[in-house]
Amino acid sequence: MHDDVYHQYARVLDEHWWTANRRQLATWALRAAGIEPGAGLRILELGSGVGVEHDFLAQYGSLTGVEISPVGLGYCKERGYDQLIAADLNDYRPTPSSFDLIVDFHVLYHEWIREPVEVLRHLRAGLAPGGVLLSSEPGFEILRRGHDRSVMGGRRFSLSQHKQLLRDAGFELLKASAFTSLLSPVVLALASYERLRPTAHAASEVAELESSPRLVQAGLRACMAVERQLIRAVPMPFGASVIAVARAH
Ligand SMILES: C[S@@+](CC[C@H](N)C(=O)[O-])C[C@H]1O[C@@H](n2cnc3c(N)ncnc32)[C@H](O)[C@@H]1O
Repeated sequence: MHDDVYHQYARVLDEHWWTANRRQLATWALRAAGIEPGAGLRILELGSGVGVEHDFLAQYGSLTGVEISPVGLGYCKERGYDQLIAADLNDYRPTPSSFDLIVDFHVLYHEWIREPVEVLRHLRAGLAPGGVLLSSEPGFEILRRGHDRSVMGGRRFSLSQHKQLLRDAGFELLKASAFTSLLSPVVLALASYERLRPTAHAASEVAELESSPRLVQAGLRACMAVERQLIRAVPMPFGASVIAVARAH
């Protein structure tokens, strides 16, 4: 990704309503796999970006990040992320059975990932028997927009495509749902508008991530809290993102 996007992530993502919601859903998904904070797991975080999930994931055990961007790695180090591997996930081969949990937070969709299923198959070999994969990715091609170009998104996954990807890589699904579903009409309207009025160049930052007025932020957090209650009762079939937790065969 363009360096500006890493700088923007470091500036806005820690406290962002979107990241807060993803963390809550990740907690729910990990609980479904029997994983709670304090589990003492050996965790591999794919594409750790600027390290915004370091503190959240470190609650579950010792964390190792794999990241290709020197800018991202620099930010990760600054915030105390000490076990870092500078590598391309397409070529990275973990030591067999060296991790208990692999976390993919919006990485496999990236243009720099050649074949998500191949990458996941190699990573699965790094999991101990019964190890768990937590994966969250952008949802549904129809929601592709300028945002995707700014972050170099090469693909988006429908709920069934995401589930199939995990199955094809040798995982048994435990839970899966779309999320940011209640906002998807707005995202769809934006995507449709941008298709009608395409711009020639991608912005070097992601406009949607910039902070909105406090009242709007509060409304979005409340909206996501309602959605999480719904997801706990029944998986959402459509949304701007998808999340799944799965166990290695
Ligand atoms: C959208 S960011 C997500 C960052 C972080 N996981 C998060 O959710 O905040 C995608 C990250 O994956 C990294 N990435 C993309 N392709 C990669 C590859 N082939 N090998 C290693 N890292 C990669 C990018 O550099 C970027 O930091």
